[in-house]
Amino acid sequence: MAAPVTVPPAATGLEILIPRQRIAARIEELGAAIARDFAGQSLLLVGILKGAAIFLADLARALPLDASFDFMAVSSYGRSSRSSGVVRLLKDLNEDIAGRNVLLVEDILDTGLTLAYLRGLLEDRSPQQLKIVALLDKVSRRQSPIRADYVGFEIPDRFVVGYGLDYQERYRNLADIRILPDPSGK
Ligand code: IMP
Ligand code: MG
Repeated sequence: MAAPVTVPPAATGLEILIPRQRIAARIEELGAAIARDFAGQSLLLVGILKGAAIFLADLARALPLDASFDFMAVSSYGRSSRSSGVVRLLKDLNEDIAGRNVLLVEDILDTGLTLAYLRGLLEDRSPQQLKIVALLDKVSRRQSPIRADYVGFEIPDRFVVGYGLDYQERYRNLADIRILPDPSGK
């Protein structure tokens, strides 16, 4: 029988930045920290599609809290690998967030323009608390004065894929976070 394939052939040469075991261990720590801060309260996790879907699925299972989920989808105009700063809302929430504890769950904080837009949009709806968790943070790229309340890993200014993160919709299903050396449009 053939050996199980764990990495799609196109990705085998991509350098691993954060292996799956480190991701899993860090998510346990994030879950514990978030559960401490929201002890005894309920929490609505708002995942930003599509990149945060895998992170939200794992984080939710590391949270010993009364939690529910909702999702939003946004896109920057254009297909470049860099944020254009102009954000378009593709899918809004199903839930009313007034008076609720909301945790925005994002895959990566880069320029910060996407999260700044989303935070403003959600704050206008009067949640009781709005906090942000980002699995990855490219601190050196920030253009908007925004920080996440919880960060998985600070990473250098490299384009990364895997664990939900894509380049032109590919590589989201890689289990490790890998570096894509030369995405066009960089
Ligand atoms: P921001 O608005 O510049 O903070 O961009 C955030 C979004 O850009 C993320 O949700 C990702 O979809 C995308 N992005 C930024 N950096 C990367 C990367 O290194 N790999 C994959 N997607 C990225
Ligand atoms: Mg993307």
